[in-house]
Amino acid sequence: MRVLVTGGAGFLGSHTVDVLREEGHEVVVLDDLDPQVHGAVEGFPPNLARHGGGSGVRFVRGDVRDRDAVRSALEGIDAVLHLAGAVGVGQSMYQPFHYCSVNVGGTALLLDVLANERTSVRKLVVASSMSIYGEGAYRCGACGDVYPTGRRPDDLAAGRWEPRCPRCGQPVAPAPTREDKPLAAASIYAVSKKSQEELVLCFGEAYKLPVVALRYFNIYGPRQSLSNPYTGVVAIFLSRLLNRKPPIVFEDGGQTRDFIHVRDIARANLLALTSAAADFQAVNVGSGVPVSVLDVFRELSTILDIRIEPTVPGQFRAGDIRHCVADATRARQLLGWAPRIPLAEGMRDLARWCTSSLPEARDLVDVAYAELQMKKLVR
Ligand code: UD1
Repeated sequence: MRVLVTGGAGFLGSHTVDVLREEGHEVVVLDDLDPQVHGAVEGFPPNLARHGGGSGVRFVRGDVRDRDAVRSALEGIDAVLHLAGAVGVGQSMYQPFHYCSVNVGGTALLLDVLANERTSVRKLVVASSMSIYGEGAYRCGACGDVYPTGRRPDDLAAGRWEPRCPRCGQPVAPAPTREDKPLAAASIYAVSKKSQEELVLCFGEAYKLPVVALRYFNIYGPRQSLSNPYTGVVAIFLSRLLNRKPPIVFEDGGQTRDFIHVRDIARANLLALTSAAADFQAVNVGSGVPVSVLDVFRELSTILDIRIEPTVPGQFRAGDIRHCVADATRARQLLGWAPRIPLAEGMRDLARWCTSSLPEARDLVDVAYAELQMKKLVR
């Protein structure tokens, strides 16, 4: 196939290009090389360097909101992996227009071109996100399966971080989150991802174009931007440790996430593209293993052998959830997908990459933290 990967020069995009090329697909990448993520880059993107020199990857520098760039990138394309997007929960809360413009507007433009111009596209996969669930699923001893939608301000102010049962108010335990959990986006970023997913699924139904929305959990791995202070917690902690600064842990560090290696996600992208079994559906892509933020810190500081105590100011980031871990049964049953890279191995892989290739990672976390504090988005 000839596959267009939007955002293909980025973290997940470039790993996806690697996997597609390994399988012999031709690839076109559309990417604007956003400086917040890529720094100052001219010419062929460094993340795709191994595919330079006409080896099956064509690079188009452009914005997903630019109709001419999208039209040109779509020439001769059989399938689209739409990964381009603005990523950052904290930043989305004070840049709502930018996040909606890139994520919702960019997706709408792609669909507009598909609807109104002659293309050969017969499959579309969109990057969705676990963020659209808001809080994950929970179990209440008295009420069974429950879905708390948010945490009470007085609980958060008092450092009571765990959500309560929405029916009886009692403590609840986190449970694996299935795709049919009611959606409850808690940040502008999440709302924008939910819209992207719904736009694509709705379009697919109307035009009988096979589409899949993959709900990625927390992706980490080599090539994650270490200088982008709005990227995921793993990269942020790494950057802090390598710069010999204490990571900042929000809440008490007991919040859990489902960390999944980027290479596992890239394989899921390939499977969603090449199999018809998940067409017209949304599918979780996560490891199913809950890991606390403090455990992420401990694991990284052990691997790097850097002993710095984290700062735990007891603060809470607006738009954050407490726990969410995937039930990935659907991905296994429909796509034959299962994660292959355990967290400890994946983190060693990431640490090797950044100590060898990026010792000068610029640490901009203090600036981002000050910005969030000024806007009262961490309290
Ligand atoms: C969010 C999105 C996810 C997206 C990811 C990209 C939700 C529920 N999920 O994940 O879809 O792919 O952003 O960034 O919105 N933390 C610290 N210190 C830090 C940074 C983070 O303690 O310096 C904590 C956060 O407060 C949070 C956890 O680490 O509790 C994970 O944060 P992060 O990596 O930003 O990802 P999510 O918010 O889970």
